[in-house]
Amino acid sequence: MKLEKIFGPDLIRNKIHRLGAQISRDFKDRPLVAVCVLKGAFVFYADLIRSLSIEPEIDFVRMSSYADNTTSTGKIVFSKDMEISVKDKNVLIVEDIVDTGRSVSYLSRVLEERGPKSVSLCALIDKQERREVLIRVDYTGFVVQKGFIVGYGLDYAEKYRNLPGIFQLIPDE
Ligand code: PRP
Repeated sequence: MKLEKIFGPDLIRNKIHRLGAQISRDFKDRPLVAVCVLKGAFVFYADLIRSLSIEPEIDFVRMSSYADNTTSTGKIVFSKDMEISVKDKNVLIVEDIVDTGRSVSYLSRVLEERGPKSVSLCALIDKQERREVLIRVDYTGFVVQKGFIVGYGLDYAEKYRNLPGIFQLIPDE
């Protein structure tokens, strides 16, 4: 396996600075709950919330999918749900990557049922090659067409999450 750098730390920092400014403007004087989707988004989330000039409430979810006999691709469930209420608040889902779109589609559907004022999505990487569900990403860091992406929170078999940049993982020929 080889790692090929696609976005370095400086580029990521600049991008997050811009996203943070935009989100702060859009949610000024509106109650915001920022939800980190574990594990992959933890690095991005930590940097993003520190770039905000507003004070969001902080919470975390973790989802897992398991194969079942009713769907070919498996079912998504919470392995950790939110702890604070989203009722009448604006919710910002913070993802490291949207790939097929199934995780975020499940999460926004579940959160919508809890009576929030709004649900928006911020994704560091919008990867479009394998998209199965139509998803609107409100705040996008980078659009990537394809490939296996690691670093800055994203893993391959739990490795590489600690890398400060974002890389394509290239299999050996
Ligand atoms: C990754 C990523 C997103 C999801 C995107 O999480 O963090 O949550 O997959 O994929 P999708 O759009 O195809 O649903 P993963 O399940 O690998 O867990 P992790 O964040 O703990 O690494």
